[in-house]
Amino acid sequence: MSQLLDTYGRSIDYLRISITDHCNLNCFYCTPFGGRSMFPHAEILSYEEIIKATEAAVLAGISKVRITGGEPLLRREMIRLCRMLANIQDLKSLALTTNGILLEEMAEPLFDAGIRRINVSLDTLKPERFRKITGSDLLSRVLAGIKKAEEVGLHPIKINTVVMRGINDDEVEDLACLTLKKPYHVRFIELMPTDGWANGDHESLFVPVKEIVKLIKHIDESRLGPAADSFGPARLCTLPGGKGKVGFIAPMTRHFCGSCNRLRLTADGKLRTCLFSKEEIDIKGPLRSGASMEELAGIFRTAADGKPAGHYLQKTDGRKMFGRAMHAIGG
Ligand code: 5AD
Repeated sequence: MSQLLDTYGRSIDYLRISITDHCNLNCFYCTPFGGRSMFPHAEILSYEEIIKATEAAVLAGISKVRITGGEPLLRREMIRLCRMLANIQDLKSLALTTNGILLEEMAEPLFDAGIRRINVSLDTLKPERFRKITGSDLLSRVLAGIKKAEEVGLHPIKINTVVMRGINDDEVEDLACLTLKKPYHVRFIELMPTDGWANGDHESLFVPVKEIVKLIKHIDESRLGPAADSFGPARLCTLPGGKGKVGFIAPMTRHFCGSCNRLRLTADGKLRTCLFSKEEIDIKGPLRSGASMEELAGIFRTAADGKPAGHYLQKTDGRKMFGRAMHAIGG
């Protein structure tokens, strides 16, 4: 197995693949432009193209893949894609990020197809609030989806909550307490200023992790360690008597660029070197014009070489550099 190192000596072994920019929710912070522009179908990589790109990525040194969207469960026959990805030799980990709306019916086929690790985005446990944030009344379906995922044996189930002041910061304790009875990882994420945010909007909603931690009563801050099972960005701890873990992800106040191990493939076939860099490298063109596996692997090496040292979001113009709304990158 080859190793993919970038120019800063970071080992790049993780690829996030967005398989669609379409979503069945409309969270205001993910699609801040209001309307969404969607890629025409012909612009989207086919499953065969995604598999070929992933094989090339693995040849270059990628060993972990996460499927994202938009909402990935919306794409037709995505179970077939999971099965094909799970069959790629030397791919050690295959994970999925979903909003959970379709999870109840999909959990079992996902498990059968080889998915073991899932992240579910969930910002509130209150139906009315869920409607406000997502524009939809389907909170009960997300909760049923999480339950089903647990029943079929998906583990660990990670719940991702973006904390926003005046929107859901009063629910941090309740969400954290889900880990008392369940083996879930509940991870609180700082809001990032993605495209379309007016500066002031982000600042008024933003809650730093330092403050989020304080919203949980029985937490022992001194025991907050790095993620035990991976070199992921979350710092984790267990609440007294808890079965699961509470985690904190601080892309803004404690950014993890120094240990960034990832590349992103967008649904329309561009490699992104950093969530917050406009830099995109086309791989769809080469895929469609019959590039060899070695040439495609070379594109992943070029992308790794192009990774910036960090995202510089704290600097003045960081937020203008993004280039796409979140639903078109996949987080
Ligand atoms: N800041 C932080 N997280 C975000 N996500 C989407 N937009 C933002 C943002 N502006 C999260 C979603 C999901 C993951 C894929 O990205 O909530 O959990």
